[in-house]
Amino acid sequence: MYYFTNEKKGGYNVTKGGKVETKVRIGKQLPKGESQAEGWLGYGFHNLWEVEIMEDKKVKPLEKALSRRKFLCDAGKFAVGTAVGIGSIGLVGCSAKMAEQTKEKAKETVAATNTKVEFPPTPWPYKKLDPEVVRKAGFEAYKRDLHCMAGSFAAIIETLAKEVGYPYDAIPPVEQLAYYGAGGVMGWATLCGAANGSCMAINLILGKDHEKLGVAINELLGYYSTTPLPTANSNKFGDMGEQAQSVAGNPLCHVSVTNWCKASGKKSFSPERAERCAKLAGDIAAKAVELLNQIIVEGSFTPVYKAPEAITDCGSCHTKGGVLENSRGKMDCLTCHDDHRG
Ligand code: HEC
Ligand code: HEC
Repeated sequence: MYYFTNEKKGGYNVTKGGKVETKVRIGKQLPKGESQAEGWLGYGFHNLWEVEIMEDKKVKPLEKALSRRKFLCDAGKFAVGTAVGIGSIGLVGCSAKMAEQTKEKAKETVAATNTKVEFPPTPWPYKKLDPEVVRKAGFEAYKRDLHCMAGSFAAIIETLAKEVGYPYDAIPPVEQLAYYGAGGVMGWATLCGAANGSCMAINLILGKDHEKLGVAINELLGYYSTTPLPTANSNKFGDMGEQAQSVAGNPLCHVSVTNWCKASGKKSFSPERAERCAKLAGDIAAKAVELLNQIIVEGSFTPVYKAPEAITDCGSCHTKGGVLENSRGKMDCLTCHDDHRG
């Protein structure tokens, strides 16, 4: 058994019997079935990952090697099944040959990976995307154990990597950037990951433009809050048939999930709920590209979402410029507060 032990400098030491054999970085997650090697991730899902050989001084965490070496375990290649625990990853299913071969490859790879990828400034190039392609991609990405945030981010970014290529194809694997958003940020059920991941993609595509981002994200989160989800389009995916729809009222995972549980009669940790969230990863990513198509490609965008009256009403006293100015936000105040004026 080999163990991966985390290192501050990034990457993992592969150790056997306490001895460091080589140093690797976890790469892309592999689709299921690509290898027999399987492990257990703390979250409770089976995962397979590519392993990249690295050498700590040469490869910085966010620099992507131009020529990456990928190892798959079976069929004479390498893969690892990971079990992410605190500080260590059990390496299952790989032959003992791995360490020898990786050491040998490491030398070669060090030279190849010592190349820095330059990223252009944002906004990044954009090409009109088919929202239905992205919707399906989001659903499928969720099912690759990316969950909601990395799933919706992948739906947009991986589709652009296919359609546009660079720089979308040069960024680190989506789960290295966006996995944390699962369950509304690691189970805290705050901002829905489907929304979070879509907004992250929008950020790359529109750039650091406060006004443009504000407009696009306002519309997206407004859509999220007011639309019966999953949509009829995503409800065709998977094999659970048409699922109940619900309206969240705000973009919080907590409210979104709980309202759906009420509507469907299903439990919040049920496979049905996961299926529904996979559909949302597709739906929200699809809406995001629909908006981007309008804003960037068609050059004409008219917001549809109308903020609830409470925002201006309650806000007249409680937000910027009001007598109290003790709150902020665009979520409907009445999803959480009563009107104290009776
Ligand atoms: C005309 C001004 C005004 C408007 C409009 C207004 N509030 Fe208030 N609100 C106040 C004042 C004044 C207080 C008492 C502040 C204090 O005692 O510190 C208050 C208190 C509150 C509190 C504190 C807890 C409580 O219930 O006393 C909440 C929450 C609140 N408002 C929410 C809202 C919401 C939601 C709306 C819209 C539905 C709203 N307010 C509309 C003036 C306003
Ligand atoms: C997701 C739920 C949620 C939404 C939406 C929300 N609030 Fe709150 N708000 C809270 C919570 C929770 C507190 C803290 C209450 C406490 O600690 O007693 C709070 C506190 C407040 C307070 C201070 C209450 C006090 O005790 O003085 C005001 C005022 C307030 N909110 C106004 C608003 C307004 C105006 C909106 C709409 C723009 C809004 N809230 C939207 C959850 C929410």
